[in-house]
Amino acid sequence: MTDFLRPQTARRSLGADRAGSKPAPTAAPLAALLGLAALAVAGSATAPRAETPAERGATLVQGIMGCGNCHTPMGPEGPVMSQDLSGRLVDKNDMFTAIAPNITPAGRVADWSDAELARAIREGIRPDGSIIGPPMPFAAYRAMSDEDLAAVVAYLRTVPAVEADPGQSTYAIPLPPAYGPPLETPVTAPPAGATVEYGGYLAALGHCMECHSPLTPQGPDWGEGFARGGMEFHGPWGVSHAPNLTNHEDGLAGYSDAELKTMIGTGTRPDGAQMLPPMPYGYFGRLSEQDMEALVLYLRSIPGKPDL
Ligand code: HEC
Ligand code: HEC
Repeated sequence: MTDFLRPQTARRSLGADRAGSKPAPTAAPLAALLGLAALAVAGSATAPRAETPAERGATLVQGIMGCGNCHTPMGPEGPVMSQDLSGRLVDKNDMFTAIAPNITPAGRVADWSDAELARAIREGIRPDGSIIGPPMPFAAYRAMSDEDLAAVVAYLRTVPAVEADPGQSTYAIPLPPAYGPPLETPVTAPPAGATVEYGGYLAALGHCMECHSPLTPQGPDWGEGFARGGMEFHGPWGVSHAPNLTNHEDGLAGYSDAELKTMIGTGTRPDGAQMLPPMPYGYFGRLSEQDMEALVLYLRSIPGKPDL
């Protein structure tokens, strides 16, 4: 049996330099938005202070990682925030009916230890040893640093409990025994900054290439097909297709950096047309300017290849 996803190739999208360093503390405007005001009180009102882990987790979950793009019920206006992270049917196709579970403190994750929840998120293994199926993007999430993973767990413990049971997934394809060997810790992130390396790290957390590369029964094609456009999504919006993100005229070559940032962060194309789901621009719109800059630098570093 082959692995459904290929973690070893995940590293390729990250750039070479994985020198460990803590992400620089940044302001967390999201904290207020997400009801973390109480946590903010802990800091000094005058002096700048480091983010708490839960604030960093909020920035990741509600920003680049966009967990709610799969785990939050979708209404006509997008994710229903009053039911945030309480689960939904993500996709029904020939390979699976995938239901993202309730991951609020009203879900079964409440009974898991922090270490168990962390392993489920980064390695796809539940405490009972069962494997979490696609399309949860584990090949990408395995790159998540220990520090960011702990932050995501800390934040999930603080979100409002929403009672909901979205049901159980079924898989017609065999799931792999694991998404790779047990991770050797420490897993570190490149230093935060407007660099190609940090942009590559953000692209992994945002699992851009899981959607923007062709899907094979073994998972996304991150070899020849890497970033050359791929998946097709069916939903209330009709059909959308994740396009080529390489620096080819079939991809992003024709867009300015400003146009790219607007597309990624607002879903608006240069001609004013609005992009379709499930491109998570609602979440990516919360990226800091520096993170958006890093992401675009990373995209510009991908050699141009035509559509497949
Ligand atoms: C592309 C869709 C997608 C994204 C993005 C996603 N998930 Fe999931 N997640 C799923 C699906 C589908 C399942 C259930 C798969 C199954 O039934 O085996 C799942 C399962 C889980 C589970 C196991 C819960 C349980 O009760 O078994 C946890 C924990 C989890 N996700 C957390 C997260 C977090 C945290 C994020 C963001 C960092 C995230 N997921 C992002 C689709 C997604
Ligand atoms: C869940 C799947 C998914 C994820 C994750 C995703 N995208 Fe997309 N993306 C799409 C789809 C689908 C479209 C096309 C939308 C449309 O046709 O309106 C798109 C469109 C785009 C476009 C417009 C390109 C063009 O030529 O029209 C850009 C740029 C883009 N995505 C960048 C990104 C980046 C950068 C990331 C990660 C930070 C990302 N996407 C993550 C699905 C995704």
